[in-house]
Amino acid sequence: MPEPADTPDISGSADISGTPGSADISDAPGSMDTPGTPGSDDTPGSTGSTGIPGGTDAPGITWTEDVRPPARARRGSGAAPGDGPGDVPGDPEAAPAPLTYTAHWHSESGLPAPRRVMVADDRMKAAVAYRLACEGTALLWRGDYQGARQLLRALGSRLDRLAPKPGATPAETFHRHRQARGHRARVLGMLLVVLEDDHGLALRRAPDVRTACTEAYGPPRRRTVVSLRELLGVIGAHEWRRKGVPVPAVDGRIHPHYGVFSPVRGEYVDLVATAPLPAAAHRAPAAATAFDLGTGTGVLAAVLARRGLGRIVATDSSPRALVCARDNVTRLGIGDRVEVTDSGDLYPAGRAALVVCNPPWLPARPTSAVEQGVYDPDSAMLRAFLAGLADHLEPAGEGWLILSDLAEHLGLRSRGELDEAFAAAGLRVVDRLDAKPRHPRASDASDPLHTARAAEVTSLWRLAPAA
Ligand SMILES: C[S@@+](CC[C@H](N)C(=O)[O-])C[C@H]1O[C@@H](n2cnc3c(N)ncnc32)[C@H](O)[C@@H]1O
Repeated sequence: MPEPADTPDISGSADISGTPGSADISDAPGSMDTPGTPGSDDTPGSTGSTGIPGGTDAPGITWTEDVRPPARARRGSGAAPGDGPGDVPGDPEAAPAPLTYTAHWHSESGLPAPRRVMVADDRMKAAVAYRLACEGTALLWRGDYQGARQLLRALGSRLDRLAPKPGATPAETFHRHRQARGHRARVLGMLLVVLEDDHGLALRRAPDVRTACTEAYGPPRRRTVVSLRELLGVIGAHEWRRKGVPVPAVDGRIHPHYGVFSPVRGEYVDLVATAPLPAAAHRAPAAATAFDLGTGTGVLAAVLARRGLGRIVATDSSPRALVCARDNVTRLGIGDRVEVTDSGDLYPAGRAALVVCNPPWLPARPTSAVEQGVYDPDSAMLRAFLAGLADHLEPAGEGWLILSDLAEHLGLRSRGELDEAFAAAGLRVVDRLDAKPRHPRASDASDPLHTARAAEVTSLWRLAPAA
């Protein structure tokens, strides 16, 4: 298995391709701008007919092969030697060519099954593959696994040369950048592989991807075609999940699951670890209740437990996040104090001394389930958090909003709008604690969004009812 690729970064660093199902502001995984991701996208965490949460599931992708596919190395697959590549009646070896094959289609980005599919192997030149992919012809890879990765890199290099020009405003630069990432994601998503009915990859020199796929997609049910780019994200996510991310504030590691926002940016976690507890929790934290809204990996719930809060109730709209958060609190031995609920509501019932919320920081449409940790359309989650806060706080309680001002630097939301949203929800600002992001992108001058990222500040807003 390869080393973990980029992790999801709310600031936008990760490349969906390699990320664990990560989201990047720039590219959303799916984000990639992939339009319509996930149709998924719009149904985050929905379970399709394959049982795969999120993404698009379609009953069929069809292709023809005029030669029998390469002998199955069976490396990485438990399928029996001699199995055909698709739902072919009889023995493919004995059947006359060309044969038509079908398999299930899955796209986390919600992309529909490509209508034109051509079989490709190591003889395919990058220039030809690039032209075909740009024209909308998908390439179903039957060659060497490492050759496919090489081809993907070659396609990526060609796409990187198409960097968009900066726009007249930061918002225009952002939208152009996102569009370019979407185009990149669509073209790279044209290189396809078949996951056999045990999630195995029957290509020469292929790694065993069955565990990674089962973690991301659930138990195998049928032969499914996915893009290699998506599969690399699944593999990267498996490695992140296995190794975990060290988080000093929880005195341990957090293990992100595929498609769940990963706490790779430590500055916001440290803000939650060090902000003064509200009066309602300060004197007897062990007797206090806190809510963690949009818990993701459960990292902030874990920080609050480490700070001694007696009961933390965590919610998230993503089923993958709920599973992930439960996994992490169990691993950290705090499962008795952190309750991860799946009611589907942002707020749990009742009131708390402290309500923490780290909503997606950018008001834009997510194009994949994975992007839902990064993009909050019309600031819907932010507004829902603010609107419900006063009614869910105990006397002397506080709401802690974690928010970067990247959206302000990109021209997507103004500070005035945020202030108005606080006032409209009947809230006052008790204090604001700021931190400068430490992630490498903040100092990457070649990043098209460098100016905004370099100016970014992450804040913990301490909010309380105005009256
Ligand atoms: C930026 S991530 C934060 C995750 C985690 N709290 C952290 O700080 O690392 C935002 C989380 O909010 C969740 N989310 C987005 N919209 C939501 C909604 N309407 N209700 C509940 N959770 C939501 C996403 O699934 C994601 O896990």
